[in-house]
Amino acid sequence: MSEIVQIPASRFLSDSWSVQDQADAVEKLEGSNVIFIPGLSVAMKDDEQILFSQDRNLTDGVQKNITLDPYLGKTSGISKDSPYKAAAESLMARYKSETEGWLARLLGDPGRKYAAQRTTFRPVEIRNRKSIGKVGDEKQFRFDDTLLHADAFKRRPMVKRRILRVFNNINPFGEPRLWKVGGDFTDYAKRYVGKMRQPWPGEFTVLNALRLTHWKRSHYDHIMLNLHDMGKLDRDFQENSPQQQFAFPPNAVWLCFTDSVLHAALAGRYALEQTFEITIDDMRHPEKSPQRLLEKLTGKALC
Ligand code: SIN
Ligand code: FE
Repeated sequence: MSEIVQIPASRFLSDSWSVQDQADAVEKLEGSNVIFIPGLSVAMKDDEQILFSQDRNLTDGVQKNITLDPYLGKTSGISKDSPYKAAAESLMARYKSETEGWLARLLGDPGRKYAAQRTTFRPVEIRNRKSIGKVGDEKQFRFDDTLLHADAFKRRPMVKRRILRVFNNINPFGEPRLWKVGGDFTDYAKRYVGKMRQPWPGEFTVLNALRLTHWKRSHYDHIMLNLHDMGKLDRDFQENSPQQQFAFPPNAVWLCFTDSVLHAALAGRYALEQTFEITIDDMRHPEKSPQRLLEKLTGKALC
């Protein structure tokens, strides 16, 4: 079961935060645990307070989050003429640079090997969130974050890269962000790998030629996508697999590899999230990556 490892901000920010503490943090993260730093938060500017005034019209109602893409420099999930756009963008840009600093401090040199990807602002209440996305009802479960899963993306194959996400609850009303954290990744994979369909010959090449993926999907991604869907559709797994609930309070940061830590978000609004990627060759323990764990389980090279 993934542990939630607490490091108070006072300790994290103090001069006594040492090279040994950094090495321990790397071990905890790579071991699929969650690092939780209460008391740490991005500073909000006065003109960003309008982001908390209401949430009904903040997002475009199609995407669940407002997203800043680092390569295109473009924001999505909010309408072009929204009065909240400038504030959301300045907050996300500052959050991105804050998290880069936090990661370098938390992990030391290894923290510099992580590449910042998308930044998201998540104003919408998760509890009772309406179905979102331009997809049919039969596919809505895929977007339901209240169900336990490890992250996998249809259009964005990870191949040899990991997904590390840094969350910050900035809720100004005292409301926590309620999560579930689940059990061991290999146990999760074992439930489904024998039951999933094999990729068709040429499938990944065709998907890429049709521009349904940004680049070619690997067998690893195929397995991760199937695990994601099979786990979300499995009531027994959702209800009876090892899991604990944890309420992340406002003014707190937490981070984990969301491709191996089973997680669900049950309630809460107004969070920030920064995604980082690292290739498994740059990990201290590549053997703990989902790529290598799945290769061990299947006896095949997957990426
Ligand atoms: C998720 O990654 O499934 C959602 C996490 C969150 O928004 O708190
Ligand atoms: Fe997720």
